[in-house]
Amino acid sequence: MNRQELPIGVFDSGVGGLTVVAALRELMPDEDILYLGDTARVPYGTRSPSTVNRYAQGVAGHLVRRGIKALVVACNTATTYALDSLTLAGAQLDIPVVGVIAPGVEAAIATAKSHVGIIGTLGTIRGNAYAQMLKLAAPELQVTSIPCPLFVALAEEGWTEGAIANAIAERYLEPLKNGTDTLILGCTHYPLLTAAIAAALPHVTLVDSAHATAHSVSSTLEAHGLRRHGHQGKSRFLVTDNPERFIAVGTRFLGRAPQPTELIDLDALDLAAWARKATEESP
Ligand code: DGL
Repeated sequence: MNRQELPIGVFDSGVGGLTVVAALRELMPDEDILYLGDTARVPYGTRSPSTVNRYAQGVAGHLVRRGIKALVVACNTATTYALDSLTLAGAQLDIPVVGVIAPGVEAAIATAKSHVGIIGTLGTIRGNAYAQMLKLAAPELQVTSIPCPLFVALAEEGWTEGAIANAIAERYLEPLKNGTDTLILGCTHYPLLTAAIAAALPHVTLVDSAHATAHSVSSTLEAHGLRRHGHQGKSRFLVTDNPERFIAVGTRFLGRAPQPTELIDLDALDLAAWARKATEESP
């Protein structure tokens, strides 16, 4: 098969990355997408860096073995802790890897005036990748980072609007009320809580990295000569547990039911091991 015809591989710890799939579909309806939600091991956001990295390697390795032309890490926590190692292994296999943090930072810098807020999982905020990248690219900006772990649970429950969501958003976002002009939604679950977040911070520009990531994927594919045109793109979904719940919850994230969804077992061989094997086998 021509490499251009392979799907774009996308993964997240669960349903959150479907917000990135929705943006990819909108921008590139002619591309096929193969999505993997690691629903057996969600959440990644509370786990240690080495565990997140190990999970990400396993998931990416599975996608690569199925055949993908590019890999999108549609999870901020996995991007924080595994993007470098995935990019390295991807380069050995000639598979470009795109994370969600750099596109989000670029989009934030384009709108920020003086003070950028970052919200994400405990892991993403502890890993500090957003703040470091912002400080490097725009040292004049003030940056405040806040973990909002309950937002993931609210999005998963579908409690994204109303009194409970508003009260939790108010409580978390209070420290951002003093001059923050731009807020990065540094978790793929958070775009679902846009209404509650905007109600708590009415004059703040919200940056959802899904759209910025989709643009970054598009230009990466173009740069590698991998962009596909003139085709009716299809999406397929793989999960490591509970496909019924993934379809039910994922419908809110994707805007339609994520189907067909297949339950899979992750193989033992991770992406780094696969890359080593491929390099050894090449003449
Ligand atoms: N989708 C994950 C992220 O963007 C959040 C959910 C999780 O903790 O696994 O960081």
